[in-house]
Amino acid sequence: MSSTQQEGIRLQKALADAGVASRRAGEELIRAGRVRVNGEVVNQLGSRVSEGDRIEVDGRPVRREIEPVYVLLNKPRGFLTTTSDPEGRRTVLDILPELGARVYPVGRLDYDTEGLLLLTNDGELTNLLTHPRHGVPKTYLAEVEGSPSPAALETLARGVKLEDGYTAPARIRVQRRDEGRTTLSLTITEGRNRQVRRMLEVVGHPVLFLKRTRFGPLDLRGVKLGQWRFLGADEVERLRRAAGPRGR
Ligand code: URA
Repeated sequence: MSSTQQEGIRLQKALADAGVASRRAGEELIRAGRVRVNGEVVNQLGSRVSEGDRIEVDGRPVRREIEPVYVLLNKPRGFLTTTSDPEGRRTVLDILPELGARVYPVGRLDYDTEGLLLLTNDGELTNLLTHPRHGVPKTYLAEVEGSPSPAALETLARGVKLEDGYTAPARIRVQRRDEGRTTLSLTITEGRNRQVRRMLEVVGHPVLFLKRTRFGPLDLRGVKLGQWRFLGADEVERLRRAAGPRGR
């Protein structure tokens, strides 16, 4: 059972969601001491449960359908893309309110990277979207030091040799050249650790600022930095399609 007031959903709602009883009837079951959570009788109406909690009514397990939840977040810098941090740093979950479901990030963005991050409790879709074989394109806006030469841009596009092997072909566009810095758009189909930063480091143009602007068919339109929204069913379907025939 959850330890804080805000985590999870009310037990009577979980019973109603599972089709066991209406909320009112669920409250009566709880008051009557007929409901157990993780083996312990719960007869307090304020109790909340989270996804992994085992609920029983009269000793019979309640089958809980897990409602899939899909979130698109515009991640600011200074947040980890993990669900907790032993050093107590803020994570992307600190930005989201209680959603009634435990969501996990789809892949990673570095602590200092901004931009489009998907979060879901749909492990199957996460696997489809993050599996390198499915090559879902992700686009980044990178501000880099210096002014990359045509040869450097060509190397980035063809594949750069990193410690973990050559990168797959990428689409590179110069967006803007300023004094001492250049803004590039890079579309890659892999998701290796710190990939964009490492690619640009290798060609001699370290990243000053990095933002993910697209993930497959989705972009950040209408979602300001630090804001989030749920995905619609059509968007989830488009994501599945972006992961190839296995996602259909
Ligand atoms: N590539 C990186 O180097 N960092 C990110 O956060 C994402 C892609």
